Amino acid sequence: MPKIIAMAGKGGVGKTTITALLLNYLLAAQKTPVLAVDADANANLNELLALPVQLTIGQIRKEMKGELPPHITRDQYMEMKVHQALVEARGFDLLTMGQPDGPGCYCSANQFLAMTMDHLAGNYRYILVDNEAGMEHLSRMNLRVIDLLLVVSDPSARGIMTAERIAALTEPLGIQPGKKCLLINRAPADPEPALQNKIAEATSRSGLELGGLLPQSATLAAHELAGRSYLDLDGGEPALAAAFAVFDRILP
Ligand SMILES: Nc1ncnc2c1ncn2[C@@H]1O[C@H](COP(=O)(O)OP(=O)(O)O)[C@@H](O)[C@H]1O
Ligand SMILES: [Mg+2]
Repeated sequence: MPKIIAMAGKGGVGKTTITALLLNYLLAAQKTPVLAVDADANANLNELLALPVQLTIGQIRKEMKGELPPHITRDQYMEMKVHQALVEARGFDLLTMGQPDGPGCYCSANQFLAMTMDHLAGNYRYILVDNEAGMEHLSRMNLRVIDLLLVVSDPSARGIMTAERIAALTEPLGIQPGKKCLLINRAPADPEPALQNKIAEATSRSGLELGGLLPQSATLAAHELAGRSYLDLDGGEPALAAAFAVFDRILP
């Protein structure tokens, strides 16, 4: 069975950035094949990977509300479409969830999706799920048994408090992470004691393990602006090196 790693944290803290760095790490370590799932309704992981997306799960779900071609069952149709939606790259595939259901959820499509995900999951060594702030997609995809939940925060008191709250949301959603780690992104080179105290308090209260701190990086921002893939980052880039050291320590 694949190891499932999911991101959580409020908007703009660096979940998508860290997903791309983690994918870079898994490819470099040859821990492949990987399925990268973009579960943000405002999909943008593909941009950091410089990959085009033609079809999303949301679009498939919508199609399944209408007439289907004859001589094919709904689950066969879902399976075929999901394969069309998979963007295949070297060592990994990318699947984009797209827009969630509008009002009046089409539950049987979600059931087919969950079944398809179950089939698909067996093909991979790792599944990475980049989320938006909420984690609803995780339960919709039937990915409840997460091996590692990475809760990302900015280096601020309120950010860390929010991360703690988000970590506590897993239980009511029925999501059971094997391990929950806090990652402080855009951390200053020399974090002041007050910040270190906040981190220590939050981790001891919440069952979050401190995964590590990732630095602010002008290179990451420049790469994004230039539309270059984060998989082509120079190995000497400090943010990448810091991320690799963290992943070495915490990955299942
Ligand atoms: N360590 C970092 N150094 C510099 N810029 C960063 C860093 N982490 C994230 N960013 C920038 O912050 C913005 C939000 O990051 P993103 O990964 O999209 O956050 P999220 O997915 O949590 O909404 C992006 O423009 C990204 O380039
Ligand atoms: Mg994002």
